[in-house]
Amino acid sequence: MKEINKPYVILSAAMTIDGKIATIKGDSELSDKTDWKEVHKLRTQVDAIMVGKGTILKDNPKLHIKYYNHKGYYRIILDSNLTIPLESNVITFRQEIYPTIICTTENVPSNELKMYEDKGVKIIQVGDGKRVNIKKLLSILKDFGINSILLEGGGTLNWSFIEKNLIDEIRLTIAPWIVGGKEATSLVEGIGFEKIGSAPRFDLFDVKIRTYYITLSYKRKK
Ligand SMILES: NC(=O)c1ccc[n+]([C@@H]2O[C@H](COP(=O)([O-])OP(=O)(O)OC[C@H]3O[C@@H](n4cnc5c(N)ncnc54)[C@H](OP(=O)(O)O)[C@@H]3O)[C@@H](O)[C@H]2O)c1
Repeated sequence: MKEINKPYVILSAAMTIDGKIATIKGDSELSDKTDWKEVHKLRTQVDAIMVGKGTILKDNPKLHIKYYNHKGYYRIILDSNLTIPLESNVITFRQEIYPTIICTTENVPSNELKMYEDKGVKIIQVGDGKRVNIKKLLSILKDFGINSILLEGGGTLNWSFIEKNLIDEIRLTIAPWIVGGKEATSLVEGIGFEKIGSAPRFDLFDVKIRTYYITLSYKRKK
């Protein structure tokens, strides 16, 4: 595959034994303290954390770091029509350490950006389609100086990256539950590939086993 100008992307998630990252009601409390510590350590090593609008609306995460000293990083939210609440934690919580970038499409009128910009948020408008054009966005982020991104879901955004083969590495924790539910969010949503041969393949390079939990690490097969 021809390499494109983009940051190194690590997909990080905790999923159930049956491949769900949340229950049908959106409960995603799958990690224990040990796993959170590992995720937070990984956050100290990247330039940015990225999530989709669905994760902001369901979990209202701060996307900050506990447990470690660090220099901070960008929080990047994909929100095509700029609709996340101004009261979201990613806007109100500690932008001086974790500056927030919201990525929208070019369809959002410029007067609607001001409310967010007044709260210190940087807006990047990319693509005029229904959703943010991820390939173009990654190239812009790389030129902006962001060399590594921890992609923390959810399933819909994960699919957009997988579909275009933009994931370099995966860190996946399997938590000891089976939650079921056709409507529960899977690690990767979207329409999926028809053939195994068309799907991106990953090489397993690390397995960590501890009581109840397993963490698997993969790299994209070149
Ligand atoms: N266990 C875990 O590790 C973990 C981690 C993260 C999230 N979660 C769970 O995952 C669930 C949320 O997942 P989700 O699939 O509903 O939402 P999501 O992937 O967080 O966000 C998807 C939304 O992002 C926006 N978006 C903008 N551009 C996009 C693009 N190019 N491709 C894809 N999305 C784009 C779209 O909304 P617009 O079109 O309106 O912009 C889209 O609906 C929550 O329940 C959360 O708790 C679990």
